[in-house]
Amino acid sequence: MLPDNGFIGAEPFLNGVAAALAQIRDRQLRNVRLWRGDALEVLARIPDAALSFIYLLHPDPWPKARHAKRRMVSDGPIDLFAAKLKPDGEFRLATDAPTYLNWSLMVMQRHAHQFEWLAERPNDFLEPPSGWMETRYGAKSRREGRRPYYLRYRRQP
Ligand SMILES: C[S@@+](CC[C@H](N)C(=O)[O-])C[C@H]1O[C@@H](n2cnc3c(N)ncnc32)[C@H](O)[C@@H]1O
Repeated sequence: MLPDNGFIGAEPFLNGVAAALAQIRDRQLRNVRLWRGDALEVLARIPDAALSFIYLLHPDPWPKARHAKRRMVSDGPIDLFAAKLKPDGEFRLATDAPTYLNWSLMVMQRHAHQFEWLAERPNDFLEPPSGWMETRYGAKSRREGRRPYYLRYRRQP
C-alpha cells in the first residue's frame, strides 16, 4: 500500500512491535519504520509541518472520567499534531467507544482554529475514509458486535 509514502508506527509494548515487524517482513514493506515507545515522543522529534497524515487507530479509551487526562485526544497531543502536520494535512481517528467519540468531538471543537472536521454527510462518521485498512482491533470490534466510528480533520492552513 502507498509505496511512495513513508510510515512511522509507534507502540510501547514489545509483543505489538514484534507482530508488526513480522507483517513488515512477510509483506516485504520497505516504507515502514517502527518506534517502540510513546507515539508522542517520536512525534516530538519530527520537524514541524512535515507530516501528511496522523492516524490514531483505536486509542485506549480510558473510559473512567478520573482517567480522562490519559486519553490521547487531549489538548496537549492535539496541539502537537497541529504542529507536525503540513497545512491541509489530515488527522484521522478511529474508535469504537461512543464515550471516546463524544469526547473527541468536544476536544476537537476546542481546536477548531487548527482543525476543520471533514464531515460531508450527517452519518459520515459511520463510514471509513476511502482506501481504509481495518486494523486488527477494528475487525475484532465488529466481530464482537460493536462498530468503529471515524473522524477526519484537516489542518487549517
Ligand atoms: C486498543 S489497542 C489498538 C491497537 C491497534 N491500533 C489496532 O487498532 O489494532 C491500543 C494500543 O495503543 C497502544 N498505546 C497506548 N498508549 C500509547 C502511546 N502513548 N503511544 C503509542 N501507542 C500507545 C497500546 O499499547 C495498544 O496496543
